[in-house]
Amino acid sequence: MDDIVLKEEFPSAEEYIRLRTLVGWTSPAAEAIEPGLHGSVFCVCARAQGQIVGMARIIGDGGLVYYIQDVIVDPARQGEGIGRRLMDRTMEYVRQRAVQHTIVGLMAAKGKESFYQPYGFNIRPNDRSGPGMTMFWGVD
Ligand SMILES: CC(C)(COP(=O)(O)OP(=O)(O)OC[C@H]1O[C@@H](n2cnc3c(N)ncnc32)[C@H](O)[C@@H]1OP(=O)(O)O)[C@@H](O)C(=O)NCCC(=O)NCCS
Repeated sequence: MDDIVLKEEFPSAEEYIRLRTLVGWTSPAAEAIEPGLHGSVFCVCARAQGQIVGMARIIGDGGLVYYIQDVIVDPARQGEGIGRRLMDRTMEYVRQRAVQHTIVGLMAAKGKESFYQPYGFNIRPNDRSGPGMTMFWGVD
């Protein structure tokens, strides 16, 4: 873990695809990746000797809504606290900007809820909120 450097930057499209592939996720078409990443309001990468080993980013409108996406750590480096450091940095960005009633959301992958709970996220569905809904465009 001592070799890990966190930096606020965008990964390249190739690095983004690499990380997603390493954790078994498919990626959108290449032409959508760069504009998508650069549309983020915040992005942090973790690197070891220059090589990307993790990332996290936030999509947001600058005040009312922040949405956390693509929290990924290379499986070869998981369990070392890198994910926690990425999320700490990500939530620090939110903490500095959110006001009362700002919505902070994310879609936890199955089984990953407990990773996010320490930051104050509530599991859905609950008494007040439905399960949330998603659509993967063009995928049956
Ligand atoms: C989830 C993920 C980012 C965690 O990264 P990591 O570097 O392995 O996590 P850390 O070593 O910093 O562990 C942080 C904490 O989360 C817990 N944790 C780690 N992996 C977890 C998992 N798969 N599910 C639930 N909790 C997990 C650890 O026990 C640790 O708890 P602690 O801080 O109380 O000691 C990483 O497993 C990953 O990239 N998974 C595949 C992609 C993914 O599912 N991302 C989340 C999308 S919602």
